[in-house]
Amino acid sequence: MMDQSLAGKLAVVTGGTRSIGRAVVERFLARGASVIGTGTKPDGDVPKGCRYAQLQLENPQSVESFCRVIAGERPHILVNNGGTSSFATIEDVDLADVERIHEMHVVAPLRLCQAAIPGMKRHGWGRIVNITAISGIWGRPTRTNYGSAKAALDGLTANLAAEVGAHGILANCVAPGFIDTDVLKKNYTEAQRKAMADSVPVKRLGTAADIADMVVFLAGPENGYATAQNIVVDGGFGRVR
Ligand SMILES: NC(=O)c1ccc[n+]([C@@H]2O[C@H](COP(=O)([O-])OP(=O)(O)OC[C@H]3O[C@@H](n4cnc5c(N)ncnc54)[C@H](OP(=O)(O)O)[C@@H]3O)[C@@H](O)[C@H]2O)c1
Repeated sequence: MMDQSLAGKLAVVTGGTRSIGRAVVERFLARGASVIGTGTKPDGDVPKGCRYAQLQLENPQSVESFCRVIAGERPHILVNNGGTSSFATIEDVDLADVERIHEMHVVAPLRLCQAAIPGMKRHGWGRIVNITAISGIWGRPTRTNYGSAKAALDGLTANLAAEVGAHGILANCVAPGFIDTDVLKKNYTEAQRKAMADSVPVKRLGTAADIADMVVFLAGPENGYATAQNIVVDGGFGRVR
């Protein structure tokens, strides 16, 4: 069986303070990796043993300053997870918000990949996992801004995978469905979340752990051949009617 240890590896996880990102950080630490987790506050709360860095993904200066950290630290693993959603009908989509969401979910992840890849090439090994969303694959009302950003992140990842595969670097996306995290609790009532759960073939909302387990598989040595994929983890919601 493949050794699943990440000892000697450094992982960067954006949005490592809460929900999906935090669960990813915990799993990396449990496997012996060193981890840098980011959040938006000057002093964010990350799991014990994780180094913390402040990062505001829609702020190019903040991204550039964190890119310098990445270029210096040369992580083996990069998980682009941080950020928020934004919902509005097409008539109400605000262009400033389009810029903010696309900076957060497309431009910043691209810059962080650019900063990380030279180090990964030096290691001759790298894993990039970008968190997309089912809204980037299947249409639902109010998701034009957010969904287009997540679709772009998928396209970015597939094309990136084509460039870096020869260097031992695998790049994939994970597309969560309805995950019962802070974002979902903020945007939906309990009755709405129950209706969502009922619409999913496995009859429950996903958990941060459901997503983190897939991320950690794709980011680890046990993944040797999956690249350029956008793996949907949604309890079957998108494929079953
Ligand atoms: N939850 C879902 O159902 C769902 C579904 C599909 C896709 N996703 C995607 O999964 C990823 C994680 O979502 P989640 O539900 O775990 O989110 P969450 O619980 O709201 O946590 C978001 C994380 O990202 C950080 N963050 C928020 N805004 C940021 C910004 N502007 N710049 C930098 N970092 C920022 C937060 O830091 P602070 O603690 O400092 O705020 C936190 O660590 C996101 O990319 C989201 O789009 C989630």
